[in-house]
Amino acid sequence: MNKLQFTVDHGLCVRCDACIQDCPRKIIHHTNGFPEIPPEEDGCLGCQHCLAICPTGAVSIFGLNPADSIPLDSVAWPTAEKMRALVCGRRTVRRYSERDVDRCLIDTLLADTAHAPTGGNTCGLTFSVIDSRRELLALLAKIIEIIETVHAGGREISEFILDGVRAYRRDGSDEVFRGAPHLLIVTAGEKAYCGEADVIIALSYFELMAFTEGLGTTWCGFIKFIIDAVPEVRGLLGLTLEQPFYAMAFGIPMVHYSRTVQRNRAAQIKTLRF
Ligand SMILES: Cc1cc2nc3c(=O)[nH]c(=O)nc-3n(C[C@H](O)[C@H](O)[C@H](O)COP(=O)(O)O)c2cc1C
Repeated sequence: MNKLQFTVDHGLCVRCDACIQDCPRKIIHHTNGFPEIPPEEDGCLGCQHCLAICPTGAVSIFGLNPADSIPLDSVAWPTAEKMRALVCGRRTVRRYSERDVDRCLIDTLLADTAHAPTGGNTCGLTFSVIDSRRELLALLAKIIEIIETVHAGGREISEFILDGVRAYRRDGSDEVFRGAPHLLIVTAGEKAYCGEADVIIALSYFELMAFTEGLGTTWCGFIKFIIDAVPEVRGLLGLTLEQPFYAMAFGIPMVHYSRTVQRNRAAQIKTLRF
């Protein structure tokens, strides 16, 4: 067996060549009538298309059992109507229950989010999660203190950020995480070709899946602004200077929206012809 652990069950393989044709790197060839990857091959993208496309579950790679994949039959997909309701009906939640989300549910969502595509299938994303309200409140208190310290030391800080600090000192308002009990920070891997895009795609997937579980989310642009103005906060979140990242707060929503908004014309549609 080669280092990719590419194996074909000869009893199941119907020699349809689907794996050969779909391989983006074209590294699968026939040997004795069956698909094979030469032992010396090192161009595999790791995308697992060979395993996914095989109609009979004959192909395995990286030691994975095709029977452990979700079967994609006609009932596996959400209907277009349900996807439409999800995409148009998800909202930025800014009122949350103080109750923590069950850690098992968080872990399931993160495991599924790891399926989000990354440029060149470099994968390598890191999901840093704050899994209790107590921890997020502790983080918020530290962020506020750091901002106040650097500001007192003469650093110029925007009124936008200072307003958030004042609100916190006034009555404990959380304008950074909007009172959510949890935070997910996605950072790109060092070898990522498209790190900025990878982290946003992963969080977009997480957001939609969170809604299907009855959770709400808030994109945390505010924390980005804070980190740009006060890079000292990076260390708190375990972020290096170079790493692309984005953050999303989430939790059990205290608000229910009865209908979608109507942004049908919010994007400019251009048809290009050549
Ligand atoms: C990249 C990005 C960053 C955002 N940052 C914040 C934020 O820091 N705080 C906040 O309350 N909402 C934030 N939002 C939410 C937007 O304000 C919100 O998406 C917009 O008002 C539309 O509302 P909707 O999400 O309910 O459709 C952000 C959204 C995006 C996409």
